[in-house]
Amino acid sequence: MNPDSLKREAAARAVDLVEPGMRLGLGTGSTAKHFVALLGERVRGGLDVIGVPTSEATRADAEAAGIRLSTLEETPALDLTVDGADEIAPDLSAIKGGGGALLREKIVAAASARMVVIADESKWVETLGRFPLPVEVVPFGVAPTTIAVEAAAVAAGCAGRAVLRRTREGHAFVTDGGHLILDLALGRIPDPAALAERLAAVPGVVEHGLFIGLVRTAILAGSAGIRIET
Ligand code: 5RP
Repeated sequence: MNPDSLKREAAARAVDLVEPGMRLGLGTGSTAKHFVALLGERVRGGLDVIGVPTSEATRADAEAAGIRLSTLEETPALDLTVDGADEIAPDLSAIKGGGGALLREKIVAAASARMVVIADESKWVETLGRFPLPVEVVPFGVAPTTIAVEAAAVAAGCAGRAVLRRTREGHAFVTDGGHLILDLALGRIPDPAALAERLAAVPGVVEHGLFIGLVRTAILAGSAGIRIET
């Protein structure tokens, strides 16, 4: 089965967790896109739920799928968020932000009673860090912020370069919140909690893509079928 079919399988299993009346966080990325499409099918079949999207891209997909949308201002407490991930470790800590939506994704996840991550099994890793860690920063002072982000990594026991994310056209990638993304290539993060604390203390850092203590369940699709980690 190709990776996209696996993503769809994981998304389909997550749709089974949705109950009538639920307030849902809708994730971002190619796996979450399958979830939104499949949820839309159920909504058009009569399921009544409300969704809070984690990006403008997901908002557009959810609207097109016919899902009733809300905001965290109107609906500050959610029942379930379903989102993708770039890496997931056995303690269910994760790296997110490959699509640049990590800030809204983390706010929505934190407002949810339960966060379920859906992914193909290639995202399951023993130790986080092979995927460059996205760090969302304000544009002002991005040069010193980059240096401070690299120093924070060293202080947390890892080292690597932070590179400004660019679009295919070579422009700086700008998030839905108007910020920039530094991709911090570390190879291995021995102590994610220590790194999270160091990064959060850097002036100019808005948020980082380490999701620690947020994911309750991972639904992983592989060639041998679906595996659920809790
Ligand atoms: C977006 C994300 C995505 O959920 C993550 O990058 C996984 O994406 P995909 O499902 O396309 O592999 O964090 O900011």
